[in-house]
Amino acid sequence: MEATRPLALVTGASAGIGECFARELARRGHDLLLVARGLERLSILARELRAQHGAAVEVLAADLGRLEDLERVEERAAGAENLSLLVNNAGFGLGKDFLEADADAHEAMIRVHLIASVRLARAALPGMVGRRRGAVINLASVAGFLPRGGSVTYGATKGFLTFFTEALAVELRGTGVKVQALCPGLTHTEFHRRAQMDVSRKPGWLWMDAEEVVQSSLRCLERGRVVCVPGLKNRLFVALSRVVPRALLGAVVRRTDRKMQV
Ligand SMILES: NC(=O)c1ccc[n+]([C@@H]2O[C@H](COP(=O)([O-])OP(=O)(O)OC[C@H]3O[C@@H](n4cnc5c(N)ncnc54)[C@H](OP(=O)(O)O)[C@@H]3O)[C@@H](O)[C@H]2O)c1
Repeated sequence: MEATRPLALVTGASAGIGECFARELARRGHDLLLVARGLERLSILARELRAQHGAAVEVLAADLGRLEDLERVEERAAGAENLSLLVNNAGFGLGKDFLEADADAHEAMIRVHLIASVRLARAALPGMVGRRRGAVINLASVAGFLPRGGSVTYGATKGFLTFFTEALAVELRGTGVKVQALCPGLTHTEFHRRAQMDVSRKPGWLWMDAEEVVQSSLRCLERGRVVCVPGLKNRLFVALSRVVPRALLGAVVRRTDRKMQV
């Protein structure tokens, strides 16, 4: 059967920001390829989106920290002739200082955030460039701009993703393919609970909803903005991070974090 609708591949689609991307993209007429470890949640979401929007939705249970699982997703991404959007969204936090988390946990984060994002972009982009259309969104974070105790590997992986995306945008100029580093700040999802982070003292005004983050990302994509920071306050933090000396920034963020912990 000839593919007529654009296909979006969303990793980490079983919850939070990824699930919102899946819902919004189905609403906008995309077929979907949804990836996460939790098959049951993906299947429930797929059924709902097929019924609501008539989208063709395929689910792929994969732990993106495992190379053999990642290779299955890569193969699917490379072979999908109507792939128009890749959202490298799967991710997690550790909620611990560097020495409190074991080495395997840091490595797993590097695999999911970096290795999977780079390999999937490498698999998806040749087809997109050949068709002269498509986009890749990499989920970075405001945390990628801050030298922050308590999320050392997390912030470093997110900083990598922003830099990677900015450099990729330079190479892809003129190909018709767009890339975006999406850099949300605190967002209501399952992220903090899963990482056992106590965020009860973080003030309400700092938070955004996942739906707002997704709308902001898709607006940035239409405008061709490579680094997309949703929300005015988050844009302010990023602007400050570029002018305040790094050592001072690290100390201020550490003190503020401690004040907000119970
Ligand atoms: N929430 C925030 O405040 C915030 C702020 C900035 C950036 N972000 C970034 O936004 C992205 C989405 O996070 P979220 O806030 O939506 O968190 P979330 O609600 O916890 O969702 C995370 C998603 O990633 C999937 N995932 C985690 N590990 C995986 C693995 N090894 N293999 C495959 N899928 C995996 C999870 O599904 P399974 O458990 O079923 O695998 C889930 O679908 C992450 O990259 C995060 O770093 C979040």
